[in-house]
Amino acid sequence: MNEKVNTDLSAQEREQYEAVARVIEQYRQKPGSLIMVLHAAQEIFGYLPMELQQFIADGMDIPVSEVCGVVSFYSFFSTQKRGKHTIRMCQGTACYVRGGKKVVEAIKKELGVEVGGTTADGQFTFEIVRCIGSCGLAPAMMVDDDVYKQVTPTKLRCILAQYTEQDEQGGETA
Ligand code: FES
Repeated sequence: MNEKVNTDLSAQEREQYEAVARVIEQYRQKPGSLIMVLHAAQEIFGYLPMELQQFIADGMDIPVSEVCGVVSFYSFFSTQKRGKHTIRMCQGTACYVRGGKKVVEAIKKELGVEVGGTTADGQFTFEIVRCIGSCGLAPAMMVDDDVYKQVTPTKLRCILAQYTEQDEQGGETA
């Protein structure tokens, strides 16, 4: 097993690294298996930080530049820790011209987060998307799988509050 598993890690991180090491063992001899390993590692950790990419490169005996190249090429790999909820604000043409830009600014201000970032409390990850098929009722936004239409900065606060309150009550979002 890779020695990095035994460095100064929390018990949870150690278990996560050990799980990734087992996946590497399973796939290391199979050509073209890097993507499988990265998928599994992202499932285990939730994202692919640089230390983890280095760990995978060492375990697979390949250059870390190769791992970084694959991670940055595919949009489904994330190098940032993701929030509990993902906000996807549409900035397609219809949403942009009908006030989507103001909502983007409101999200940034309200949550103190930049596009692509995650709030300090780990609650929300904020992303921009291009059209979610609700152009007739633009501007549109998604939070996880829920679609919100005709979003304004004022509505935004109510929408986000639902998620925060539900989490505080330990409930699930609709
Ligand atoms: S442009 Fe935003 S939903 Fe289509």
